[in-house]
Amino acid sequence: MTTAHQPYDAWNVEENEFPRHGTLDEKLKFLLNYGVLAPSLHNTQPWKFTVHNGEIRILADRTRHLTVADPDARELYISIGCAIENLLTAAAYFGLNSHVTYFPDPHDEIWVATLSFKDIGGTSSLADQELFHAIALRHTNRQTYANKALNERDVQQLRACLHDSGLKLQLNDDPEIKQQVDSLVISADITQFADPDYRDELNRWITQGEFGYRWLIARVGQLATTYLSSHHKTVKPDADIVLNAPMLALLSTDSDNRLAQVQCGQTFERMALIATTLNIGIQPLSQIIQVAQLRGELSKLFDSAAAYPQMAFRLGYTDVAQDAASRRPVETALKV
Ligand SMILES: Cc1cc2nc3c(=O)[nH]c(=O)nc-3n(C[C@H](O)[C@H](O)[C@H](O)COP(=O)(O)O)c2cc1C
Repeated sequence: MTTAHQPYDAWNVEENEFPRHGTLDEKLKFLLNYGVLAPSLHNTQPWKFTVHNGEIRILADRTRHLTVADPDARELYISIGCAIENLLTAAAYFGLNSHVTYFPDPHDEIWVATLSFKDIGGTSSLADQELFHAIALRHTNRQTYANKALNERDVQQLRACLHDSGLKLQLNDDPEIKQQVDSLVISADITQFADPDYRDELNRWITQGEFGYRWLIARVGQLATTYLSSHHKTVKPDADIVLNAPMLALLSTDSDNRLAQVQCGQTFERMALIATTLNIGIQPLSQIIQVAQLRGELSKLFDSAAAYPQMAFRLGYTDVAQDAASRRPVETALKV
């Protein structure tokens, strides 16, 4: 008897179920269980996969594109980059050699990448093993973080995630900058919540239910509080999480094309996995970058005027567990 899919089942993936003696394609299908645990904008999970002849093709699912929050689909491609990173991390753990070809057809934005694999039966390094085990432990952590500076060794590990020369990571713990980022978060919240199309879009995702709506409902509540309090000039809204964060981070790219966005997603996810192994929580603050005029202000604040801000996030040590967000069944992302 098969049991119905439960929204949080995906997190219980068992590595023992990897089909060691199966065909390469059976192994690749198993890897998808780790791909879908990647973070994505509003948990939209905007990816589709095909598995054939030792390859995973990764396709953008534009039916899951949030056209108001993410008009040029920039964050859709970042989200897909996160899924690619999980697939590669899981492949390394299971001894598969991988090669990535990005945008194999330069005229087709939907076909994001082809990952080709060889089963070399190799063994993974200790570092690969740790990263792999972080995949099912990582959650976007929206709690207040411990009031403790990040230690230099941990910061170095996070910095080491940048393999791509077109990417730049800036970390900042200056209270004045935090104050200004905090103001940008509030402005962004107010701008977005004042837009009826934005509210409609958020509402649509919430009523669809399957997308981890607990967080979205909280987000609407937070936006409403920010919006109303700004109008009644009474309480300070709850963006204090920025002021309390030990560290703010900004990932920027040299160019703003699809490849840069996908690779930024890969780096962000790699950082999130490393952070998980170090008990460091991460929460993106994407609203600042989503509001076009604030994106430029953020860039100036972090002194990266020449670059394109892609992911802003806060970081800090945390012992407070964060609830997992739901996932749709893997099969619905597998295109046959
Ligand atoms: C491109 C991108 C933008 C995101 N923006 C935000 C954000 O602004 N605020 C936030 O709390 N989480 C943000 N997230 C995290 C997602 O909401 C989260 O990944 C999703 O709900 C699934 O939850 P999980 O990361 O815990 O698995 C973002 C994630 C991605 C990949």
